[in-house]
Order: sequence, then C-alpha cells, then structure tokens
Amino acid sequence: MDGQTVEVSLAAAGDKAVLERLFQLYCHDFSEFWDGAAVELGEDGRFPAYGALASYWRDKGPVPLLIRNGGRLAGFALVNGASRVGRPLDHNMAEFFIARAHRRGGVGTAAARAIFRRYPGAWEAAIVRANTEALAFWRKTVRGCPGVSEIRERDFKRPEWDGPVLSFRIG
Ligand SMILES: CC(C)(COP(=O)(O)OP(=O)(O)OC[C@H]1O[C@@H](n2cnc3c(N)ncnc32)[C@H](O)[C@@H]1OP(=O)(O)O)[C@@H](O)C(=O)NCCC(=O)NCCS
Repeated sequence: MDGQTVEVSLAAAGDKAVLERLFQLYCHDFSEFWDGAAVELGEDGRFPAYGALASYWRDKGPVPLLIRNGGRLAGFALVNGASRVGRPLDHNMAEFFIARAHRRGGVGTAAARAIFRRYPGAWEAAIVRANTEALAFWRKTVRGCPGVSEIRERDFKRPEWDGPVLSFRIG
C-alpha cells in the first residue's frame, strides 16, 4: 500500500446519512470498549444516533471527512477543535474509522497523514484506554508522519477522559 489510492474528501451535507451509517459500524467496534447505553442496540437494531454529528455541517470549524480506498468508501474521520482534556490546540481527531475489509493495509495511515497535511497545526488524538490497537496505530502513524514535531503522549485518568492522549504539531 503506497497510499496513492487512498483519498480523503469533505463530506457534503447530503452525505450526512452516509456518515450516520458508518457511525453505526464504528459504534459496533467501540461496543467492545465503551460502557453504558451508548453501545446498547435499540429495539430497532441500531446503536443510538450520534447527536453531535449535525454540528459537523452546521458549525464553522468541525470537519466531516470520507475516506476512499481505490475509489470505494472505506471509512470516515471527524475533526474538530475541542481538546478532550482542555488543552489549547488547532485540531482534534475526534473520530476515525476504517472499515474492516480495508484494514491492515496502510489505508488508515495514508488517510490520517493526508488529513494532517490538509490541516497543519497543533493536533490531538485521544485513545480510549482499552483500545490498544488504536494506540499502536496512532503511535506509529504520528511518529512516521512527515513534518511532525513536538510529539507527546500523556496518560489521563479523569472523568472527561480515561486513556492516553497524543499531542503533536504538523508543519
Ligand atoms: C485503528 C484503525 C483506524 C487502523 O486502521 P488500518 O487501516 O488498519 O491501519 P494501518 O493498516 O495503516 O496500520 C498501521 C499500523 O498501525 C498498527 N495497527 C493497526 N491496526 C492494528 C491492530 N489491530 N493491532 C495492532 N496494531 C495495529 C500497526 O503497527 C500497523 O502497521 P503494520 O500493519 O505494518 O503492523 C482501524 O483498525 C479502525 O478503524 N479501528 C476501529 C475504530 C478505531 O479504533 N478508531 C481509532 C479511534 S482512536
């Protein structure tokens, strides 16, 4: 995988339903890690809708992105400017997902780096403590990213966040 076939594009307002469906797959993955009502299926067979999703088109700042691999829909990313731990930053990787059939081939790495290139500045990626695969992914993806500096990993155990938080600067 050389990353050449991975594309990241802004999701249009008309793609909101696409993001909602992809978010269901994301919730299923995270149901292994999260506790509580957010990961219980409703009687309609769906996870609860992500209330904040609408803000990605409504507000200035948050960015909804679709990821394609070889022209096929392969994932999504939601980028906003809100630190999970109250630190000053430019961009927070709020959610990031690669569909299972596209994993372990470098698609996530290529997509994340394309996003970092597109939005330079002070970044944060917070990782749910139990999601050790994601921690391995972000450590490797961030460390090897061209133009990265000021990489710092800190562990938080607070009501607002329980797990490691990577901060770094791009550009
Ligand atoms: C984490 C995720 C984005 C990785 O996407 P991906 O396209 O498979 O990642 P890549 O193929 O670019 O992996 C790059 C490196 O990350 C690490 N990595 C990725 N997935 C891993 C896993 N399941 N276990 C351990 N290390 C992993 C490896 O070092 C990998 O390099 P290698 O394949 O040469 O060993 C994907 O598994 C996913 O969407 N998971 C569910 C949602 C999630 O956890 N999102 C992150 C929220 S913080």
